[in-house]
Amino acid sequence: MKLYLYTYRRFVGSFLLLIAAALVATWGFAALPSQVQNGKKPGTKPNGDKPNNGKQAKPVVSRDPVVINGASMIQEGRQIFRFDTYGDEAFWGDTLHLHQAIEGTQFGGIGPGLSPSNALAVGLKVDVDALPAKVVSQLKRGKVNLGDPAVTLTLIKADAVLGVKGTFNPDGSLKSIGLTCAVCHSTVNDSLAPGIGSRLDGWANRDLNSGAIIAFAPNVKPLTDLLSIVHPGITDEQVRAVLLSWGPGKFDAELLFDGKAFRPDGGPAATLLPNAFGLAGHNLHTWTGGWGTVTYWNALVAVLELHGVGTFFDERMDDTNKFPIAAAARFGHVSVPPDSDLVTSKLPALHYYQLSLPAPKPKAGTDFDAAAAARGDALFSGKANCNSCHHEPLWTEPGWNDHTPAEIGIDSFQAERSPDGKYRTMNLAALFVRERGLFMFPQNKGRFYHDGRFQTLLDVVKSYDTRFGLGLSDQEELDLVEYLKSL
Ligand code: HEC
Ligand code: HEC
Repeated sequence: MKLYLYTYRRFVGSFLLLIAAALVATWGFAALPSQVQNGKKPGTKPNGDKPNNGKQAKPVVSRDPVVINGASMIQEGRQIFRFDTYGDEAFWGDTLHLHQAIEGTQFGGIGPGLSPSNALAVGLKVDVDALPAKVVSQLKRGKVNLGDPAVTLTLIKADAVLGVKGTFNPDGSLKSIGLTCAVCHSTVNDSLAPGIGSRLDGWANRDLNSGAIIAFAPNVKPLTDLLSIVHPGITDEQVRAVLLSWGPGKFDAELLFDGKAFRPDGGPAATLLPNAFGLAGHNLHTWTGGWGTVTYWNALVAVLELHGVGTFFDERMDDTNKFPIAAAARFGHVSVPPDSDLVTSKLPALHYYQLSLPAPKPKAGTDFDAAAAARGDALFSGKANCNSCHHEPLWTEPGWNDHTPAEIGIDSFQAERSPDGKYRTMNLAALFVRERGLFMFPQNKGRFYHDGRFQTLLDVVKSYDTRFGLGLSDQEELDLVEYLKSL
C-alpha cells in the first residue's frame, strides 16, 4: 500500500502541476481581447458576422485597468477562499492534533484514522476535478477502498477535500492540518457520487458536522480552558458533548465569546451555516447583523474562529457581560507584527471574491411553478408585506438591515449573543436549493431561520401568517412558497 501511495502521490503532484499550467493557460487566454481570441482584428464582430461599419469597437474589457484589477482580485480571492489557512495549522494541527486523529496509528497518529467513508459521513466533500483521471475511473468502478484512512491522506494531499489543507512529512504521514473558509462555505455538485463532484463555492455545506470534526481532535483542552472562564470545572468530555450537540450544517461562532452552549429550550446554541453567495449590496451580515460587514466578519473568522495568525480589533468584545470569555481573553485586541500577519493582506481579495459569488438561479418548471410564483410575487409585496424587510431584489433592506426580536416576533436568544441584540433580515436568494435538498443528504434538506426551527418554506410562511396576522388563505400560502422558491 505504501509503495502504491508513493507512486500515486508523485502522480498526483505532477497532475496538479499540469492543472496549474492549464489554468494559467486558460486564464491567459480568457484575458486576451476577444477579437484576438477569435483570430480577428479589433473592429470586426466575432463569429464571422459583418464588420460593424467602422463604428468604434466595444471597449475591450481586458485592457481596462480596473477590470484587470477586478479579475485578478477575484482569482486571488478564490485561491484564498479555497486554500488559505492563514497559518491556522498552529491551532488545528500543532495544538489540537487533529491531523493525528485523521491519519491514525497506521501513520504514527492516534486511533483508527479517518476513512474516506467516515469523512463523507461527517459531510466533508471531495473535489472530483482535483483527482487524477485514473482515480476517478477507479472511484466509478468502486475500486477505491473507502475504508482506508491512507486514501483520505491521498485525497488531502491532492487538495481534493474541500477546506482541509494538509502538510506532509517525507514519509507520507501528516505533519499538520489546517482549515480554510471552503470547509463550511462550499460544497460539491455530487457529479460522481454523493459528496464527490465539482466545487460550488459559496454554497453552505449543509451536511458538514463541524462539531463532530472538532470533537474528533485528540486535544480539546484549549477550548475547555476558554470555556472554564464562565463554566469553572468544565471537563473535556463536557466540551466534546457540546460540540457533538451541534449536528450537520451547524457551527457556533459565538460559543467561545460568551460560553452559551445551549438555548433556553435546551437545544444547541449553534446556528446553520449561511451561504456566502449573493451578498453584494448587503450592509450587515451574519444571522445577527450587528457584528458588521462581510470584510469585518472575514477578519473575525480568520483570526478568532479558524485561529489563523493575524490581527483583529473590536472593542465591543470588551463587554464582560455579553462576551465574558472574549473580554477576558482580549479577543478584540489580537495583534501580530505586520510581517507575521497571514490574514490582513488577504482581506481585500477575499472580500472581492465573496461579493463576486452569484447566487444560483432556479429554473421555472423544475424548481418552482411559474404561474403560482407570479401570484406569490404580488402577495410578497402586497398582502403578506414581506417586501417591507426583504426588499426586492436585494432581499434585505438597503441600509441598516436588522431588526429587534420583537419586530420579527421571535425569541431574543441568538440576537442577544451579538453586539446590538438584533436579527439581520436574511438573504432569500436560492432558497430553492434547501427546499429541494439539492446536493445534500436528504435528512438535511429544508431548515430555515438561524437555528433551523422551520423545516419547510411552508412552515416559515405559516409562522409569518400567525405572527403578523396576515390572514393568508391556504392557496395564498402555497403561492408565496412558490415565489420564495423562484428567488
Ligand atoms: C466552521 C465553519 C465555518 C468556517 C470554517 C467559516 N465560516 Fe463563515 N460562517 C459560519 C457560520 C456558522 C456563520 C454564521 C455566524 C452567525 O451568524 O453567527 C458564518 C457566516 C459567514 C458570513 C456571513 C454570511 C451572511 O449571510 O451574511 C460570511 C461572509 C462568512 N461566514 C465568511 C467566511 C470566511 C471568509 C471564512 C474563512 C476565513 C469563513 N466564513 C469560515 C461558519 C463558518
Ligand atoms: C420585520 C422584518 C421582516 C418581515 C416583514 C419578514 N421577514 Fe423574513 N426574515 C426576517 C429576519 C430578521 C429573518 C432572519 C431570522 C433569523 O435570523 O432566524 C428572516 C428570515 C426569513 C426566511 C429564512 C431565511 C433563511 O435563510 O433561513 C424566510 C424564508 C423569510 N424570512 C421569508 C419571509 C416572508 C415570506 C415574509 C412575508 C410573509 C417575511 N419573511 C417577512 C425579517 C423579516
